[in-house]
Order: sequence, then C-alpha cells, then structure tokens
Amino acid sequence: MSIKESIDFLNLKTNNFKPEIGIILGSGLGCFCDDLGGISVKYSLIPGFGESNVEGHKGELLFCEVMGKKAVIMQGRFHYYEGNSMQTSTYPIKVFKQLGIKTLFITNAAGSTKTELSPGDIMLISDHINFMGSNPLIGKNDSSLGERFPDMSECYNLNLQNLAFDCAQELNIPLKKGIYLATTGPSYETAAEVRAFRLLGADVIGMSSVPEAIVANYLKINTIGFSLVTNYATGVSSKKLTHAEVLEVGKTAGNNICALIKRMIEKI
Ligand code: HPA
Repeated sequence: MSIKESIDFLNLKTNNFKPEIGIILGSGLGCFCDDLGGISVKYSLIPGFGESNVEGHKGELLFCEVMGKKAVIMQGRFHYYEGNSMQTSTYPIKVFKQLGIKTLFITNAAGSTKTELSPGDIMLISDHINFMGSNPLIGKNDSSLGERFPDMSECYNLNLQNLAFDCAQELNIPLKKGIYLATTGPSYETAAEVRAFRLLGADVIGMSSVPEAIVANYLKINTIGFSLVTNYATGVSSKKLTHAEVLEVGKTAGNNICALIKRMIEKI
C-alpha cells in the first residue's frame, strides 16, 4: 500500500484538509472530540490502515479545528497486540507527515510502577524504554522519509515539554513527569515484571505509543506524550486489574488531559 493512495483517499474525503497538528487519543480520551465537529473517516475505509477493535476506541480519524488550528485526531490506535505489524501500527504517522503535520500529541493509558504516581495522575512522558522486542523502522529504509539510524536523544520535544508545564500551571492541572515503558501486552505484567521494570527506570507501563513516537521522531515531527495513570501496575497495590477499571479512571482524569492539550494547541 502506498502512502499516496491513503493521502489521495483522505484528500477526497476531506476536501484537501491540511492539518498541522496530529493527536492520538488513548483509551477513554475520546471526550477530547466532544463539540469539535469536523469530518470523520473510519479507519476501515482508509487504504493501508489496520484494525482497531479495543473497547473504548472509536476507530476513526477526525479532521477538525482545535482552538483555531487545523488538526487530525486518531480516535483509537492500532495496537501491536491486536496482531497489527509494527509497520501497520505506525502507518498513520507516515500519513500524518505527508498531510503536513508538524506537531504530534500522543496519549495513552498506563499503569504506575510506584505509589508516588497514582491512578488519576497525568504524566508527561520525558523519555521511553522500548521493551516490545521490535522496532517499527526494521526493514528497508526509505531515505526520502528519514535516516537509517535516527537519533533518539530528544524523542519527546523539550520545547513542547516546557510548554506543557507552563499550560498545566496556568490551568492548575497537576502534571508529573516520567519514563514510559512499552510492552507488547495484551496480558498485563506479572508482579515480578513490574518490579524488574521499576528497577530499569520505568515510572509507568503501557502497551502502545513507543512505536508511534519512534516513527514520529524518525520523520522529524515534534512529539509530546502524556500518560493517563489509570491503575497501579500489578503488585504495586493488592487489587487485580480489569479493563473496565482502566476505562473508568480514564473518563474522569481524561478531561484534564484534554484541557491541557487544547491550551497547548492554542499556544503553539
Ligand atoms: N500495564 C500495561 N498497560 C496498561 C496498564 C498496565 O498496568 N494500565 C493501562 N495500560
């Protein structure tokens, strides 16, 4: 599948809408799109897009204005654990680049490895650990898109990180900062794995975002990531995990992430 086919299809559907901002909404953050209007396009219709079937994910691209800026929003993402390849999971980022995106907001739900980060907290991702055992850039490199060995020293843009803290302060939203570790999932971690990941330096654990951030960085898109802490990872507290719990916490604290991203977009 060529990116051009996807772009041609989207240009037709959206009347050549040219977004400058991309947003990937994780579990339970769909509320970001309430009242935005715009044009939605189902993933299943877009040439090259994979399958997204997780509960709480809509499976659509929304082209709309956010705070007066043109944006494209992924309502739900392509997880590796759904059987999508790394390449398919990150294909939309390549499409975003081609559409003209300069800034990408990545969001996710994640489990905390430590008691200092509690369910309902928002964590700015300052860096990540790829524990997925693969990399979306494996394979022949298209040097017209990016380098064979892309630098990852500022995968999460520092100016955007500073802006996030400024906006959080203005809005009185508590914002923490830490390291996101990605596993493939779909099983949650064992308590022993969580202890190991904490030792490695992980503040939160999730099953997404890292492939997207790698590809965005490769494509030189300024990227920022937020984790919504929905639960303590296994063994950090004695409670068992359910997906329903992850969705419920996402709903409440998700409003704060949405407000924060909107304020940032206003200021970009
Ligand atoms: N582990 C991995 N992924 C997650 C978690 C977790 O505890 N919570 C939400 N996504």
